[in-house]
Amino acid sequence: MEPQDDNPSQPGVARPGGPPARPAAGSADVPRRPWVVGVSGASGTPYAASVVRGLLAAGEAVDLIVSRASRLTLLDETGISFRDAHWRADLREWLARGADGKPGTFGITDADLDLVRYWPAGDLAAGPSSGSYPVKGMLIVPASTACVAGVALGLSKDLLQRVASVTLKERRRLVVAVRETPLNGQTLRHLVTLDEAGAVVVPASPAFYAGATHIQDLVDFVAGRVLDAADVPHRLYRRWEGELGSGSKEGN
Ligand SMILES: Cc1cc2nc3c(=O)[nH]c(=O)nc-3n(C[C@H](O)[C@H](O)[C@H](O)COP(=O)(O)O)c2cc1C
Repeated sequence: MEPQDDNPSQPGVARPGGPPARPAAGSADVPRRPWVVGVSGASGTPYAASVVRGLLAAGEAVDLIVSRASRLTLLDETGISFRDAHWRADLREWLARGADGKPGTFGITDADLDLVRYWPAGDLAAGPSSGSYPVKGMLIVPASTACVAGVALGLSKDLLQRVASVTLKERRRLVVAVRETPLNGQTLRHLVTLDEAGAVVVPASPAFYAGATHIQDLVDFVAGRVLDAADVPHRLYRRWEGELGSGSKEGN
């Protein structure tokens, strides 16, 4: 099926009877090969926003899947109602919001949004549900324990879980930013299963050595570690350089 789109001029999308698809922004001759970002219903929607911003800043295309449950966490954490029919406007508002809840903290342009395709979580015929659809891999951020279980067991109960299974069977990079505490034995076993299947498990646990002074710094640290696991270059956090005490220096 075609992606949900409330912007008829979105690049890369050919419509029956419409004009031929034009290439995605910034990639005139290069075939589009996106990262799939799956947002599941764990707390931590600012992590997802930071990862998507990081991908877009690196010039990467993004295929976005937002689980049904994650609409509740997004509403709870940002006040944004995410709507399939208006995903572009809702995503713009979400990406622009700071982790402290301040609207308009980040400038999100049309060119940024042109790099994104949105697929409804119930659309099991969506492009990325097939291994033949070209993607670089998938980042699940945040990952709920239900999502971790579903992927570990291969349930494919929605598009997000199906794409994760496809990513594993195609031996592509799968990064799972699990968010829950404490973790029970069942989830720990599922995480081991994912690790053994080749996924990279990145717990959403911020570190304090990078000199964080704001909530955004802590969010960006986790998002940066997710992007590290995908080999996507970014400047979301300050890397450890072997000097003890640098995280507490004045002016950080
Ligand atoms: C406000 C809110 C916060 C939640 N936070 C978490 C969480 O941090 N971790 C988690 O595993 N589940 C959390 N849940 C529960 C999941 O949303 C629930 O298990 C859901 O079935 C996950 O579905 P999904 O994986 O398809 O998105 C939360 C639910 C709500 C409503």
